[in-house]
Parts: sequence; structure tokens; C-alpha cells
Amino acid sequence: MAKVSPSVLSADFAKLGEDCRKVLDAGADMIHFDVMDGDFVDNISIGIPVLQCLKAALPDAYMDVHLMITDPLRYVKEFADAGADCISFHVEAASDILATIAAIDALQKDAGLVVNPNTPVESAFPYLDDLALVLVMGVVPGHGGQAFRPETLDKIRALRSECDRRGLSTDISVDGGVKLSTTAPQCVEAGATILVAGSAIFGADDIAAAGAEFKKI
Ligand code: DX5
Ligand code: ZN
Repeated sequence: MAKVSPSVLSADFAKLGEDCRKVLDAGADMIHFDVMDGDFVDNISIGIPVLQCLKAALPDAYMDVHLMITDPLRYVKEFADAGADCISFHVEAASDILATIAAIDALQKDAGLVVNPNTPVESAFPYLDDLALVLVMGVVPGHGGQAFRPETLDKIRALRSECDRRGLSTDISVDGGVKLSTTAPQCVEAGATILVAGSAIFGADDIAAAGAEFKKI
């Protein structure tokens, strides 16, 4: 059974804590916290103070932080101190990938590497032994509610087979365009172990019910 990580990007930020509690109670395994800087991506979202408040409100929630920012190493410590449990950063954004992974490890947080649609998934292979997860983007990051790119499935398969070949239990996460009855089961079939879903959960009329349905995949 895949783990479910609802993305707060589609949440009603006026009641963020309450709605995150609802999806966690409905069975979500973690909360996906999307950070955008208006530089690495063309949008600006939320950051350190919001994470701090959310973690204080939900101390037991595993915070799956997705940094869509330039030079992530600069901010690793602040996000760890604010309550991140996993810090994922983009292979395209980091000037020193090994140093960034080492900084996350030193703070005893899980490290994740993210691969954009136009980046070969093989770019994550040199770092696989040191990562808790690889996040494969199903859309160009920056906005929720976009259509899943079907070629993402081949990238998940290639990553699955490389992890299996090396005997690694690295999580394979997929983010962007993940929908309940179409792309989510396809991603699991291809080898994904974490489903990130924003509009399909926080955009649903009944977010608890949507979260619970994802857990059944
Ligand atoms: C994309 C973000 C995603 C986004 C997914 O830039 O990283 O986490 O919220 O949204 P949906 O599930 O609506 O594609
Ligand atoms: Zn994300």
C-alpha cells in the first residue's frame, strides 16, 4: 500500500491546521509542504513561519517538505528547525548536491532529491545510496491542478528497477497531477511508494473522504 502525502498547496490556508488534522485522521501518512521562492519556480507559496506554526499545531505529523527554491543548502537548517522531517530539494536547483544531502543528514532529517519533468531520472542515480526518497515530478512545478505527464510513469519504472537492482528501499514519491482513479494507481503499478496529491485531496468537497480513498489504492 502506498503512503499518501496530501499537498497543502491546494489547501485553504485560513484553516490549514484544521484541514491537515482532517486528512491525517483519515489516514494520510504525512503532510506535503510546498515551498516556492518565485525564482526557481514562477510562483511564491509559504515558508518557514508557516511550517513552524503547523508543526506546533500538529507535533506528531511527519512534515514532507518540498523545497522549490534556488540554493536549498542555504535554508536547510531553518526548515529543519521549523519542523521538517524530510527535506526534498531539486537536482536542478542545488549547486552542491552531496553537501546538501550531508547537511540534511547532519540535522538527522530524511533527505529527498526531486527530478523535474525535463530532467532525466538517472540524474538521481549517483545519490541513491544516501537518499530516503526520490521525488519524481509529474508536472512542471509551480502550480497545483496541472495535468500529469504520462512519460513520468517510465521514469518511475526506471527508478524502481535501479532501486531493486541495488537492493535499496528508497521511497519513490510522485508529485503533480496525481488523481484517485487514473494516475495514482498507474504510479503505484509503476513502482511509486508515496503519492503526493494536492487538488485531488485538499481541493475535494470532502477532504477527509478523498484522503481515505487514496489510502485504499
Ligand atoms: C507542484 C507542487 C505540488 C502540487 C501538486 O508545483 O509541488 O505538490 O501541489 O498539486 P496537484 O496534486 O494538484 O497536481
Ligand atoms: Zn510538491
